[in-house]
Amino acid sequence: MQITIAAQGALRGEVRLPGDKSISHRAALIGALAEGKTEIKGFLPGKDCLATLACLRQLGVTIKQEGTTVVVQGVGLRGLREPETVLDCGNSGTTARLLCGILAGQSFFSILTGDDSLRQRPMGRVIKPLMEMGAKVHGRRGGDLLPLAITGGRLQSLSYQTPVASAQLKSAVLLAGLFAKGKTVVTEPELSRDHTERMLAAFGAKIITAGNSVTLEGQPSLVGRRIQIPGDISSAAYFIVGATITPGSELFIPNVGINPTRTGILDVLQMMGAKIKIENMRVVNSEPLADLYVQSSELRGVEFGGELIPRLIDEIPIIAVAALFAHGRTVIKDAAELRLKETDRLAAITEEFAQLGAKIIPTADGLIIDGRQQLKGGIAYSRGDHRIAMSLAIAALRAQNPVIIEDANCVEISYPQFWATINNLQKVN
Ligand code: S3P
Repeated sequence: MQITIAAQGALRGEVRLPGDKSISHRAALIGALAEGKTEIKGFLPGKDCLATLACLRQLGVTIKQEGTTVVVQGVGLRGLREPETVLDCGNSGTTARLLCGILAGQSFFSILTGDDSLRQRPMGRVIKPLMEMGAKVHGRRGGDLLPLAITGGRLQSLSYQTPVASAQLKSAVLLAGLFAKGKTVVTEPELSRDHTERMLAAFGAKIITAGNSVTLEGQPSLVGRRIQIPGDISSAAYFIVGATITPGSELFIPNVGINPTRTGILDVLQMMGAKIKIENMRVVNSEPLADLYVQSSELRGVEFGGELIPRLIDEIPIIAVAALFAHGRTVIKDAAELRLKETDRLAAITEEFAQLGAKIIPTADGLIIDGRQQLKGGIAYSRGDHRIAMSLAIAALRAQNPVIIEDANCVEISYPQFWATINNLQKVN
């Protein structure tokens, strides 16, 4: 599917966000391992989270999904069943890596695979600690690539220092740690998103965090519960930047998850001079929420890297869009992980924005972007990457001519209503 977006002036009105992708996955997975029923409201019915539900069903979990409401009949820590066929994680790295952790603790055999993109993404980082805990895993390139064949079993707890700040890696080890006796400890070089820790604690696990380390007591009894999923700040990011760079815009975005491990986007945009008001802060199911008001404003370039990167790892494509229209230079460092996402995002940003007339310089681990660029418009390709498609769409709001985005339906991965939402906001003008 192709979508054409033409600049039509300011964005005004209210954005109703889809549920947080990371938290939706975790609510379903941990709900499945709990005793009793878990009722999830505000679940993200995007393709990634639906892949998680499909895999859980193949593992013998009864799940009812109607729109954004999901009811999971938990089977308890020992209740999963051997799947009869291969588990397909689609495009979803979170599904694949978190399931590896769970499957490592099962006394049965399973095979995981994914789509063309996921089959090229590194799994070795997850497999290594799981094998140290006692799982047997085989896959292409010595177990680094899907499909992976996992024979789980009795696991030993582990104290593990991760080589990269990755919430998927941390979560895989913690989920495996549920099945091991004693304490499993994960220490990261920088803190990655902590939704797994919060969700496990909400279900009754004993979990303690200190600095960049988290300690889980194995073999807890997890109890099913009600979960309300907050709106996804990574989805809000497109409209926050859209309103900021389009003169005359004013948006209200209620129910945004503002977990501090995810709010790097707000910090960077505020450093750039964005007008974002964060109001009505509250906590729902151990996750902080707020309502955001965003107005258009002049931006200035910034330099950032280090511990900020994991806090905005999925937002770098849309930050690049903000940087194109800021005054001065933006330099992004320490973001080599972006080369290992749904696409090599540093290459995709550089090359696809070049199709619209933008000049972005890639480095080994980041980007250099000079501001005040004139975007001509033209045809660009999402590369099947939802975050590239949505970033191109927001850049189109400031292009001189329409932007045609090829393979635009990939937004269904994380934001099925994205095209409808952007159309409605422009019509309000
Ligand atoms: C996610 C963790 C991040 C992020 C991804 C979702 C999660 O990946 O990029 O979109 O839900 O745990 P890494 O763990 O590879 O950094």
